[in-house]
Amino acid sequence: MGYLTVTAALLWMAYGLSLLMTIVADCTGPEPVIDPPHLVVRYGDPASANCSAPQHVNKIGWEATVGTTNVEGPQQLVWNVSSVTDWSLGSGVMCYTNGESGQCIQNLAITIYKNPDSVTARLIYYPGALVEGEQYSLECEVQSVAPVRNLTVTWFRGDQEVEQQSNYTQFSIEGDQSKDVTVWTRLTNTASREDHEAYYSCAANLDLNTAEPIPSVRSRFTQLKVWYRPRIVSSSQNVSLGAGDLLELHCIADAHPSPTYQWRRDNMTLENENNATLRIESASEDQAGDYECIVNNDIGETSTKMRVDVYRNYTILIAIFLVLVVGALIAVFIVIYSIHHKKNKTGEYRLTKVKVGSSLNGQVAQANGH
Ligand SMILES: *[C@@H]1O[C@H](CO)[C@@H](O)[C@H](O)[C@H]1NC(C)=O
Ligand SMILES: *[C@@H]1O[C@H](CO)[C@@H](O)[C@H](O)[C@H]1NC(C)=O
Ligand SMILES: *[C@@H]1O[C@H](CO)[C@@H](O)[C@H](O)[C@H]1NC(C)=O
Ligand SMILES: *[C@@H]1O[C@H](CO)[C@@H](O)[C@H](O)[C@H]1NC(C)=O
Ligand SMILES: *[C@@H]1O[C@H](CO)[C@@H](O)[C@H](O)[C@H]1NC(C)=O
Ligand SMILES: *[C@@H]1O[C@H](CO)[C@@H](O)[C@H](O)[C@H]1NC(C)=O
Ligand SMILES: *[C@@H]1O[C@H](CO)[C@@H](O)[C@H](O)[C@H]1NC(C)=O
Repeated sequence: MGYLTVTAALLWMAYGLSLLMTIVADCTGPEPVIDPPHLVVRYGDPASANCSAPQHVNKIGWEATVGTTNVEGPQQLVWNVSSVTDWSLGSGVMCYTNGESGQCIQNLAITIYKNPDSVTARLIYYPGALVEGEQYSLECEVQSVAPVRNLTVTWFRGDQEVEQQSNYTQFSIEGDQSKDVTVWTRLTNTASREDHEAYYSCAANLDLNTAEPIPSVRSRFTQLKVWYRPRIVSSSQNVSLGAGDLLELHCIADAHPSPTYQWRRDNMTLENENNATLRIESASEDQAGDYECIVNNDIGETSTKMRVDVYRNYTILIAIFLVLVVGALIAVFIVIYSIHHKKNKTGEYRLTKVKVGSSLNGQVAQANGH
């Protein structure tokens, strides 16, 4: 009797041990199957996953600090979270099965993503003005984004994409990278006149291979102000004009801040000629010369030259000449007439002589008639 009891007790112990063995034994059979195998979930959204055992098991369970489990079928258990707000889920949860093949474990990887609360582009503070040729940096601040390793920051100039930054090791990051963080990244450029009044912005984009791409968040535009030296964009050519004609010279420069103009002739400053256009209603010969337009602003100076030739205005000369010729002709006529007139008054006998001559001619004609 005692022997039997001992044997029974031993058998029970062995059975209990074997049960214990099966519980703690390493997995020798197929692992549980989790569907979906990888969860990509937006922060605050619900999440759920199915765990099913590929063969009969004694127990199926989830090991997670948050969420509820519901039996879906004899070999299926669903893990469910109504709102993912616990960043620790980012390290994943586990599903296990206990059965003849021991304890089998499958891990469910969870990626919690969060679009930034705000994205801001700004020019790093410059003491004074940003001058062409100098280096400047724009900074993009991305607030409260996750996961930072899948963040891409894209820079835009107007609508044109200028640079993509996706290596998160080069970002400045504040916060715990297993949660949402704030990120700063810079775009460095050399200031050029073309950048003056250009609009820059940056966009934060999370690429997680989701079926629907995650919408990117774009900053507002920031406008640059670049100071640059004048550059002549249009100016008069050498001119040649008649005395008394209108002389108009121009020189138009692009500059920021707005330039001032100064005109010179033969190295002499022309007082009060401070416009882009120089206008002389009636040019005289002594206003011919080498003109120079000097354009100046706080950053620098540039100039352009043009030659002005003023010739005697021949239309006037011709007019004067014509007047003189006509006058001379009139004078000659008057002289001839007056001489003629005097001769008429004093030479009356000549007139009779001519009459005599003509009568002589008449006689000849008569002789010819015979
Ligand atoms: C889990 O499995 C059941 C039955 O196969 C299915 O109805 C349910 O949609 C699944 N849920 C998930 C989250 O895959
Ligand atoms: C998940 O749980 C919520 C309640 O917490 C429930 O309303 C919802 O239907 C569950 N979803 C699934 C797929 O079981
Ligand atoms: C990211 O930047 C680090 C440090 O600058 C560099 O070592 C690494 O190769 C870069 N990774 C990629 C993918 O470019
Ligand atoms: C997110 O980043 C990790 C680490 O850099 C990378 O292994 C993974 O492939 C990325 N995911 C996607 C969808 O690009
Ligand atoms: C103006 O000055 C330049 C150099 O200073 C000189 O070469 C040029 O001959 C001068 N022009 C006149 C018209 O004086
Ligand atoms: C310069 O231009 C302004 C406006 O066009 C005009 O009022 C002014 O009289 C001009 N000055 C000179 C010196 O021509
Ligand atoms: C303008 O005149 C100057 C001086 O006579 C000369 O050197 C220059 O080549 C001329 N420019 C043009 C465009 O003809």
